[in-house]
Amino acid sequence: MQIKESKFNGIFLGQRGRRTLLLTENLTPGRKFFDEDLINHKGVELRTWNPDRSKLSAAILNRLKSVPIKEGDVILYLGSSYGTTCTYVSDIVKEKGFIFALDFAPRVMRELVFISQVRGNICPVLADANRPETYKDKVSKADVLYIDVAQRNQAEILIKNAKLFLKDKGYAFFAIKARSVDVTKSPEKVFQEEINTLLKNGFKLIDKVNLRPYQKDHVMVLVQKN
Ligand SMILES: C[S@@+](CC[C@H](N)C(=O)[O-])C[C@H]1O[C@@H](n2cnc3c(N)ncnc32)[C@H](O)[C@@H]1O
Repeated sequence: MQIKESKFNGIFLGQRGRRTLLLTENLTPGRKFFDEDLINHKGVELRTWNPDRSKLSAAILNRLKSVPIKEGDVILYLGSSYGTTCTYVSDIVKEKGFIFALDFAPRVMRELVFISQVRGNICPVLADANRPETYKDKVSKADVLYIDVAQRNQAEILIKNAKLFLKDKGYAFFAIKARSVDVTKSPEKVFQEEINTLLKNGFKLIDKVNLRPYQKDHVMVLVQKN
C-alpha cells in the first residue's frame, strides 16, 4: 500500500489498488481493538480506519474540508458506543490530549472501560447526554464536541452540552441520521432544519458532507461556536 500524510493532523492516506483508505498512528502499538489492519510505515505503526464503521472516516473520505482536531486537544464525545471512532480520535490527540467518551448504555461502556485501561487518554462517562448538569463536575471544557447519538432531539443535546463545555470558537462535529429525527420528512429537509437550529443558536456552519455510500441518509456537519 502507498501511504502519505493527509492535510489533516495525524491522519494518513493509503492507496490500496483503486481504493483510498485513511489511517492513524496507533497510540498503542501492537494492540488492535476492532477489525483494523496494523501497518508498519517508516517505523511507525498505523491503523486502517474503516469508513463503514466510522462516520468521521466516511466524512473525511467524502472531503470534509476541515478536521480541526489536533494533538493535545480535549474532546467531549457524546454517543461513543463501543469506542470505534473514539479510538481514532484518541490516536489523533495522542497522549497529551483527552477524550471524555460518554454513552448511556452500560453494555457499551463496559467495553470502553477495557479500552480506556489501555488508552490512557480516554475517560468513559456513563451518563445521559440530555442531562449535562449530571456530569458537569466530571467533564472539563473541550476544544471539540463530537456528537453521534442518533436521537430526535440531537440538536438540542448539542446546544446544551456546547453551552456548558465547549470553549469559545470551539468546533462541533454533528452526525445527523435523518431517520432518527423524522421519518416523515425528506432527509435533506431534516438536515437543513437541524443546521438552521444550530445557526439560530450562535454556531457558524463550516461544512456539511453526505456520508453516502458508507451510511444511508446521514450527513456530518461541522460547526464552530461563535
Ligand atoms: C450511532 S451510535 C454511536 C457510534 C459511535 N459514535 C462510533 O462512531 O463508533 C449512537 C450511540 O449513542 C448512544 N446514545 C443515544 N442517546 C444517548 C443519550 N441521550 N446519552 C448518551 N448516549 C446516547 C447510544 O447508546 C449509542 O451507543
